[in-house]
Amino acid sequence: MRLVHWLFLISAALFVSGIGFLVAGARTAQQGSDVQSAVDAPALTPVATVKQIMQGIVVPAATAVFGSVATIVTASGREDRAPRTDEDWQAVGNSAAALVEAGNLLMMGNRAVDRGDWLKMSQALIDGGLLALKAIDAKDPDALSSAGEPINLSCDNCHQKYQRTGS
Ligand code: HEC
Repeated sequence: MRLVHWLFLISAALFVSGIGFLVAGARTAQQGSDVQSAVDAPALTPVATVKQIMQGIVVPAATAVFGSVATIVTASGREDRAPRTDEDWQAVGNSAAALVEAGNLLMMGNRAVDRGDWLKMSQALIDGGLLALKAIDAKDPDALSSAGEPINLSCDNCHQKYQRTGS
């Protein structure tokens, strides 16, 4: 009887200390994940104005994407322009990726004029850029050409609402 009693006490003690280990383990994991998220999200300080992002990133990238697929008719004939070599596709891919990232930059910090349409319209630029990237991954000139339309629409819609006149 006495032995059984002791065994019960020992197993109860083991059970309780086991819970202690679980709690300690969960705490350690929690602290670990706090450290991890601090590493994942460094403090970011937006520097460029929206105008600089437009002139420095958006315009050159959009020009490259819009111009990558075109039919050019001149006196000497017709040229169907499209990316052909791996380098061509990579170059237009860089520009489409820059458009996507410009959309991210537009949503950062106090660049976001509001939490409504500004975010939606920045997202529309991102979505258009992603569509172009998908076409580029597939090396599909027609799909790349079609992606120009939603990209262009995202520019126009945002300017209509937010571009101050005179700039
Ligand atoms: C989310 C909103 C938004 C999107 C999307 C957007 N723009 Fe803009 N853009 C602006 C605003 C706001 C200005 C005015 C900036 C200023 O003058 O301070 C501007 C200004 C410009 C200007 C004039 C810059 C100057 O010299 O004054 C050009 C050119 C331009 N954008 C091109 C584009 C193109 C091309 C696209 C699409 C590929 C685009 N933008 C997408 C908000 C946007």
